[in-house]
Amino acid sequence: MSDESRPTPAQTPVAAVIPAAGRGVRLGPGAPKALRALSGTPMLIHAVRALAASRHVSLVIVVAPPDGAAEVKSLLDAHALPGGTPSGSWGRTDFLVVPGGESRQESVRLGLDALPPQYGVVLVHDAARPLVPVDTVDAVVEAVRDGAPAVVPALPLADTVKEVEPAAAAGDPEPVVATPERSRLRAVQTPQGFDRATLVRAHETVTENVTDDASMVEQLGLTVVAVPGHEEAFKVTRPLDLVLAEAVLARRRLTDGF
Ligand code: C5P
Repeated sequence: MSDESRPTPAQTPVAAVIPAAGRGVRLGPGAPKALRALSGTPMLIHAVRALAASRHVSLVIVVAPPDGAAEVKSLLDAHALPGGTPSGSWGRTDFLVVPGGESRQESVRLGLDALPPQYGVVLVHDAARPLVPVDTVDAVVEAVRDGAPAVVPALPLADTVKEVEPAAAAGDPEPVVATPERSRLRAVQTPQGFDRATLVRAHETVTENVTDDASMVEQLGLTVVAVPGHEEAFKVTRPLDLVLAEAVLARRRLTDGF
């Protein structure tokens, strides 16, 4: 597609890539993190539902553990909307499953490789953030559609953050080297939203290891903007996060009948 005929971000449909290929070792032994159950439903299914809840998102690409794509595909089909929809679709949201890679970055790139040409806006959302509210998803999409090449949902920090010199041996005290001004720091969540061409270029250009996609766009010299995140978009990383996630779901059942 030539640049002239390519629809603008305001016009194109939105796809989401969900990297879900991590082992989740910090959560303890067991199934890959994305397949662990929250209130009886795999974390990944909660994450796909959270994105499919946005009226903007019409395709979700799930990046599965390298040896687990068939299992993840069956799982998605099994959780189709009540009433049943064709394989590969949850009502108005289609999904694809592709095998992931060694790093999060490689998994996202493999997801982008599977993205059909008509999608001009891409969200990247961690399967490990299963409870992100739809309003947060919509706010990210709208900021990309308004012209930002990259958008992150972000929250102010409660803790003061210190930069340290890593200790010579594990467990030794670590010398503090700096204290960044807390009011200017943000904790960044997902989904992060991108103009597709920008994200693809970032993945082609940046080769060093990064922990989020937006930092790759920063390395291209482009401006990334932050919109308000949400405390329920936290990442399930450690065992205590599972307790918190169950509590959020219990509260939603009480208040929304969810
Ligand atoms: O390890 P971390 O918590 O940063 O992982 C964030 C997300 O990236 C998780 O949803 C995880 O499943 C995914 N991931 C991946 N492929 C990897 C490593 C992590 O899709 N090789």
